[in-house]
Amino acid sequence: MKILILGSNGRLGSALVRRWKTLPGVEVIALTRAQVDLSDPEKAEAGVAVESFGSGDVVVNCAAATDVDGCERDHELARRINAESPGRIARLCVARGARLVHIGTDYVFDGSLDRPYTEEDEPNPLSHYGVTKLEGDREVLSASPSHCVVRVSWVFGPDKPSFVDAIVKRALTSPDAAAVHDKTSAPSYTEDMAVWLEAFLKPSVPGGIYHLCNSGTCSWRDYGEYALECAKANGIPVLTTTVAPLKLSDMKAFIATRPPRTPLDTGKFARITGITPRHWKEAVAEYFKTWKA
Ligand SMILES: NC(=O)c1ccc[n+]([C@@H]2O[C@H](COP(=O)([O-])OP(=O)(O)OC[C@H]3O[C@@H](n4cnc5c(N)ncnc54)[C@H](OP(=O)(O)O)[C@@H]3O)[C@@H](O)[C@H]2O)c1
Repeated sequence: MKILILGSNGRLGSALVRRWKTLPGVEVIALTRAQVDLSDPEKAEAGVAVESFGSGDVVVNCAAATDVDGCERDHELARRINAESPGRIARLCVARGARLVHIGTDYVFDGSLDRPYTEEDEPNPLSHYGVTKLEGDREVLSASPSHCVVRVSWVFGPDKPSFVDAIVKRALTSPDAAAVHDKTSAPSYTEDMAVWLEAFLKPSVPGGIYHLCNSGTCSWRDYGEYALECAKANGIPVLTTTVAPLKLSDMKAFIATRPPRTPLDTGKFARITGITPRHWKEAVAEYFKTWKA
């Protein structure tokens, strides 16, 4: 079986390549932006089409314009990368008899719901990133009901720094830490995602939308504070484990509007695969056992 991974240099893509290369009977083809540039949909499709893959193979798209504020600056570029190219690649996969597993985002929701979002909840994106990612989800699923859209949230892992790395790194030199307390969701650990996403390599797992992240819910402040505690417990010399609360509305540098509350309900994934994602605290604790500044 061949697995093509787009965005193979990214936070999630790198983790998939590392783990899936060890799977028996699988050939992983890692595709970077240099080989498949989604900003040019026609060339992106051609870049995937040159690979020899076919019936029973899987293409996983981890590539995206993930700079949420950058998407507000260039709507057209974001649309090409997040929607048009995934649509073309989805149709190419249909022509080859392959499944596309496309990674989506919690930012397709407006964050106004008082419970975790299920796959049936109506999206209402507040940012151009969310709008274009939702267009991508729809392009992919309209190409084939066998394709999968896996929506994740707050991705962290060893291959590229994210929020938890930034807060701990800053605390190595400053005793002042602060993070938004009125925005909640759940982290998604890339090492866990690499295990869970294996489920979608099996044709017996039906196509459609899935929500997938570590379990539990937290604010950026909770997440940051727990990361600092884990860092300290592992001998990382942080100068504080206290995180002052900030309001989302105080984040004047943000260009895009962020949804305030987007925990994802992973019940469908658990019912279909039998896998219950572990709690985000367990994942963060494990991450800091081997963390390097
Ligand atoms: N990060 C989060 O908190 C988060 C939250 C919810 C959903 N997601 C979704 O999860 C997926 C993976 O995100 P991530 O955290 O792994 O992000 P990431 O580290 O920013 O990775 C994105 C990848 O996309 C590639 N890319 C960007 N523009 C491209 C283009 N024009 N053509 C081809 N490749 C391009 C990047 O290539 P380079 O390496 O060359 O830059 C990178 O490999 C994305 O679909 C994202 O929307 C992420």
